[in-house]
Amino acid sequence: MIVKRCTKGSLDEVYKIEEAAFSDPLKKETMAKDMERESYYCYALFGDAPKAFISYEKVFDEGQIISVATHPCCRRQGYAKTLFEEVLSLAKQDGIALFTLEVRSDNLAALELYKSLGFKEVGVRKNYYQSPLCDAILMDLHTGDEI
Ligand SMILES: CC(C)(COP(=O)(O)OP(=O)(O)OC[C@H]1O[C@@H](n2cnc3c(N)ncnc32)[C@H](O)[C@@H]1OP(=O)(O)O)[C@@H](O)C(=O)NCCC(=O)NCCS
Repeated sequence: MIVKRCTKGSLDEVYKIEEAAFSDPLKKETMAKDMERESYYCYALFGDAPKAFISYEKVFDEGQIISVATHPCCRRQGYAKTLFEEVLSLAKQDGIALFTLEVRSDNLAALELYKSLGFKEVGVRKNYYQSPLCDAILMDLHTGDEI
């Protein structure tokens, strides 16, 4: 398994995960445009095929998580956690002191993943997400505090 920072050259592979993982995936062109921004970071875990990716926006010394996904064919095999741990380490070396994210309160898999990495709940936005209506849980992790 290798972790690679993804640029437009890896868009097709990363987009396969995006399309398969989300019921309402981003448009491919949106992801392509994101990848052109210097502050946008996307890392993926590759084996025989792309397994998982994480994207975030770097704002000064903060990493704002945009998306995390593992291809549905290979969930619960530790890919998201392995990738996240590597990304946390790379980001820390790159000067990121804090990661922040928002997650649907009904997304148990993601909540458990984030907690297992050491993210702490720091707030709630009531009824933030539509269809179905649910709260957004705000979480953060000071790099160095990861489990
Ligand atoms: C959330 C997601 C990225 C997890 O990916 P994954 O590769 O299956 O996760 P891992 O195998 O690395 O799991 C690591 C830990 O997360 C937790 N976890 C992962 N999936 C879980 C599930 N379905 N139920 C409960 N806990 C879960 C567990 O603590 C797990 O450790 P364990 O297997 O030792 O118990 C994946 O389910 C996914 O792509 N979901 C759809 C996209 C999404 O909702 N992204 C997050 C919001 S942007």
